[in-house]
Amino acid sequence: MSSRPVFLFNSSAERAAVFRQAFARDLADIIFADDAATVDPDDVRYLITWKIPADLDRYRRLEVVFSIGAGVDQFDRAGLAGGISVVRMVEDGIVRMMQEYVALSVLTLHRDWPAYAAQQSQGIWRALPALQASERRVGFLGLGILAQAAMERLKPFGFALAGWSRSPRTIEGVASFHGAAQLAGFLARTDILVCLLPLTDETRGFLNAELFACLPRGAALVQVGRGPQLDTPALLAALDAGLLSAAVLDVTDPEPLPSDHPLWRHPKVMITPHVASVTQPHTAARAVIDNIRRHRAGQPMIGLVDRARGY
Ligand code: GLV
Repeated sequence: MSSRPVFLFNSSAERAAVFRQAFARDLADIIFADDAATVDPDDVRYLITWKIPADLDRYRRLEVVFSIGAGVDQFDRAGLAGGISVVRMVEDGIVRMMQEYVALSVLTLHRDWPAYAAQQSQGIWRALPALQASERRVGFLGLGILAQAAMERLKPFGFALAGWSRSPRTIEGVASFHGAAQLAGFLARTDILVCLLPLTDETRGFLNAELFACLPRGAALVQVGRGPQLDTPALLAALDAGLLSAAVLDVTDPEPLPSDHPLWRHPKVMITPHVASVTQPHTAARAVIDNIRRHRAGQPMIGLVDRARGY
């Protein structure tokens, strides 16, 4: 029986090929396996997966479960033994793609592209009043790694940036708000609201009528968190009432969004199919290898999830 630790890979064959090479090069004392049937379950120390496999209990000496994606809300963490560490995917590819998507969305909304698209569909040549970026207040719900990275991309444009998080955070050049008591104040100063919250029991249904009512009239939403955070009927009502001017949605509930769903054809809604940010195998393999080294050296892993908090 081999005593070398096993890293078990449970994702696409295309990604597996990249990880296999990276492990052979940089962590040769670990066995890389993408077929659970070929390994002794007792050798499995590390698992990377999108969903927790039903037979996880077989791996009695499992130490770390890595998510192949940025979120861990899809994990049934209740079924995981307490000693197992859970790690989110934090890697350069995900970060860069989220920076691009948020910058694209904020600029699209800032420069009134949805309104110009509506004018174009009717052949209308008409300039709308243009705000300067310094007059446009962009607010982030959630101040994690992705939100902070997206803000860094927006800073050179000169937007007035703010962020709200559950616990206090200080970020240079960003007005910080925290906790339930400061939420309304944060919303009141936000023209473009970017949601990058993790999905937890507290954030399910967070983007609702009450929250929209706290935003200035005509504000817009960029939803790059998770679908179940958004109360869709409340969004449609806010758009129709003119409380909100537009919404960019990369995540919906359900996914895929059924083709007859009213969101698809709403003139003030722009939808992409959960593609804002996607794990890139080369950079992800590097991040996971780095984390395994940290784990072995007794250092904290990047993206380690606080299992009680859920992110
Ligand atoms: C995408 O949403 C991810 O979790 O990577």
